[in-house]
Amino acid sequence: MSNELPSRSDRLIARCRALAACTEVPGETTRTFLSEPMHAVHDMVRAWMEGAGMCVDVDAMGNLRGVYAAAGEAMPRLLIASHLDTVPNAGAFDGILGVLFGVALVEELQGERLPFAIEVIGFSEEEGVRFGKPFLGSLALIGALDDAWLAVRDTHGVSVDEAIRNFGLDPARMPEAVLGEDAFAYVELHIEQGPVLESEMLSLGVVSAIAGQSKLELRFLGQANHAGTTPMLRRHDAMASAAAWIVAVEQYARTRSGLVATVGRVETRPGAGNVIAGEVLATLDVRHAEDGEREQAAVELLQAAQREAEARGVRVESRAIAMQAAVPMDTALTAQLCGAAKRAGYPAPALISGAGHDAMIVGRRVPAAMLFVRNPDGLSHHPHEVVLAEDVEAGLATGMELLRGMSVARGDAACGKQGLHRAEVEDVHA
Ligand code: GLV
Ligand code: MN
Ligand code: MN
Repeated sequence: MSNELPSRSDRLIARCRALAACTEVPGETTRTFLSEPMHAVHDMVRAWMEGAGMCVDVDAMGNLRGVYAAAGEAMPRLLIASHLDTVPNAGAFDGILGVLFGVALVEELQGERLPFAIEVIGFSEEEGVRFGKPFLGSLALIGALDDAWLAVRDTHGVSVDEAIRNFGLDPARMPEAVLGEDAFAYVELHIEQGPVLESEMLSLGVVSAIAGQSKLELRFLGQANHAGTTPMLRRHDAMASAAAWIVAVEQYARTRSGLVATVGRVETRPGAGNVIAGEVLATLDVRHAEDGEREQAAVELLQAAQREAEARGVRVESRAIAMQAAVPMDTALTAQLCGAAKRAGYPAPALISGAGHDAMIVGRRVPAAMLFVRNPDGLSHHPHEVVLAEDVEAGLATGMELLRGMSVARGDAACGKQGLHRAEVEDVHA
């Protein structure tokens, strides 16, 4: 048996897996916004952050925020972040890997101080599962969360405002969560959640842009009636309308380059085997790198819903949940990240991200860049999501090169050859 200590990448992966055990649903990983297991996640990540010399706090939106002080006063701040919430029955790495990557980089500094502070943020909410609205955490960070969202309720009737209070936080303190003027860059590492790097046999990629998203909710309103006695031609079957439309959505997106469209959730009422469905609620998620293509698709898919409904004497109502334009990443910061990957020995091609990320929200306020780590099998939003230790190592090596490059670029003469100060690790418990 080997006595070797686990490598930094093995440790990072083990931490992700440890957090995956914090779940609302035993036997799987399901951890939505400010759910009970998020307390345990905060406790564990807080301990790792404090061990690395960071001062840790939780803001009013439940974002976990660890700050590693700069070499001096009044120095700018680098943000390294991703999210701590998950989809239902998730893998261990989506979001979490990026948060713990930030912690690992600070650990690697071993007390060395840079000419900028590093704030590592674990966003409380990115997936939009509990309240149907993604990015609550990063929207709060940039002060762009509409107050109306505080009143929105989850399927148990709990509002966002109540969820925040139930977690022990105070929604009145939301303004304090907003980013100061000192942040100069935002970097997010994330599992690719797709097959490109795997097919190119590469560890890393940089994101050039994040595809835009249209998220809608449709309600097919028919007539509930007896399944045994209502003749087929006298029905107003909301389920049949929705089902025909769902297939039409798939056909439509298959024939348009770069477009993806998904109906990921349906709810039917009354939901009994012997009752024709009177009502169906269905979500629609449409994405494309070109905003015009996405907007056109959303319009045409709503028209398709009307057609399938009218054919059965059913009505359709729709409402927009989120309309997010495609977001290019910051060119200069992305070039820095590319350079860092190259110096670390890993070519990192530019990719478009089909998945949404907090970077597309924070990028409205601060130059943002993203590093993707290979996703073997291209399987994500799934419990079998994996990352390879060698790719995590590539990410960490790139991250360290980025910090060194930024230190030099920030031109602090006192920083020495590699742009790093050495200081004692602060004992934050003292
Ligand atoms: C988040 O994972 C999304 O792309 O929906
Ligand atoms: Mn996700
Ligand atoms: Mn994610």
